[in-house]
Amino acid sequence: MADIVSDRQHNAYFASFFTPRPTPRVTQKQLFGKHIVLGVGGSIAAYKAIPLLRRLTDLGADVEVVMTASARHFITPLTFQTLSGHPVHTDLFASNSNMAHLRLAETADLILVSPATANLIGRFAHGLADDLLSTLILASHAPLLIVPAMDGDMWQHPRVQQNVQTLRETSVEVLDPEFGTLASGHVGWGRFPSEETIMSSIISLLTMPSDYHSEVVLITAGPTHEAIDPVRYIANRSSGKMGHALAQAAQKRGAKVTFITGPTSLTPPPSVHTISISTAKEMQNEVHKHFERATVVIMAAAVADYQLTHTAATKLKKHEQKHLSLTLSLTPDILGTLASKKTGQFIVGFAAETESLIEEATRKLQEKGLDMIIANDVTQPDTGFGSDTNAAIVLDMHGIAENIPLMPKHEMATKILDLIRHRLGNR
Ligand SMILES: Cc1cc2nc3c(=O)[nH]c(=O)nc-3n(C[C@H](O)[C@H](O)[C@H](O)COP(=O)(O)O)c2cc1C
Repeated sequence: MADIVSDRQHNAYFASFFTPRPTPRVTQKQLFGKHIVLGVGGSIAAYKAIPLLRRLTDLGADVEVVMTASARHFITPLTFQTLSGHPVHTDLFASNSNMAHLRLAETADLILVSPATANLIGRFAHGLADDLLSTLILASHAPLLIVPAMDGDMWQHPRVQQNVQTLRETSVEVLDPEFGTLASGHVGWGRFPSEETIMSSIISLLTMPSDYHSEVVLITAGPTHEAIDPVRYIANRSSGKMGHALAQAAQKRGAKVTFITGPTSLTPPPSVHTISISTAKEMQNEVHKHFERATVVIMAAAVADYQLTHTAATKLKKHEQKHLSLTLSLTPDILGTLASKKTGQFIVGFAAETESLIEEATRKLQEKGLDMIIANDVTQPDTGFGSDTNAAIVLDMHGIAENIPLMPKHEMATKILDLIRHRLGNR
């Protein structure tokens, strides 16, 4: 886990010297009409929520502040009350609260937790609801943006990293803290991110396009398991992360998503219609069931190419046979059967290859009548199965359409949806 932290963050740190930071396009009153719930945790960086609150209200946002009990050791509610123009919410059981947790949950366009402590991140990741902030987060469908700030050892602790990962896998945006001198005087990862970074995330979350609101998107993900006997199966290394990222991104952009997934360790994106399958045959049945209604079909699953010709009804005993030969037959070619059923669907396939990437992807695109194919080289450690990042070459009927450089899978998902949207036109 420590490696995950250092790779991702060191790359980001060094890249920051060479890559100009995108300046968010902030216009006056850009956040007018937006209701933001600002949760403040018990971090030494709690005072940094003050200039952030000022920036948000200057841009026209209506901000209500919720402080944890620990946060009140660092800063007084009066400061936030004065700057936000609203009483500060601190107590789930306050006699005058009138179910504030539900009102805030329902009316928020964004919940921003800044700074977020290791403790808050752990509680959110585990769905705990033992104070006002954690309760309203569970009750809300609003996007959640977490801005961590903590000691470097705390941030790099495997349990904190695991919690961050859990949140990221369930549509929550968690910013990486920055590298530098910490309150303890140590140097490390854990510093409250810059105001520009936070503002840029807030603005992109609040101004996210809903350009998929009229689309019904069918997405497949993960591997399939082909049974040898009741205990054993043949599978592949797909983690399902790319398909999950696509389902989350499409849902955030307003699509009605049907998500058909093989066995993975990931939690399905919340509010997405998820169908869990195990075998290629089951995947085919579900895809065919939902294909007609779909307007966009993205087949990101790594469906097994072979299945057992005969699956043993009982567990094979190793003492009964020293050598075991399995006879395999081809699984149904799900993608290949869709072109003939097409009634206007835009169909996207994936080609995970270890050699002749472009040739193989082009062949697949043409043979299966796809509109677009995302080809990626799975021999590279950063783009292979299970990795959090990916790089790909996108092809359509005109040839190479886009070369997507190495980036986190959730960013690639956005990029792929942009490319599809562009080809769908304004329908
Ligand atoms: C002086 C001081 C500074 C602290 N700063 C942080 C911090 O920056 N980040 C963090 O995760 N915890 C920090 N803590 C620990 C939290 O305050 C503690 O875990 C608390 O339970 C968090 O409560 P909350 O998550 O409900 O706000 C600090 C504690 C003290 C005494």
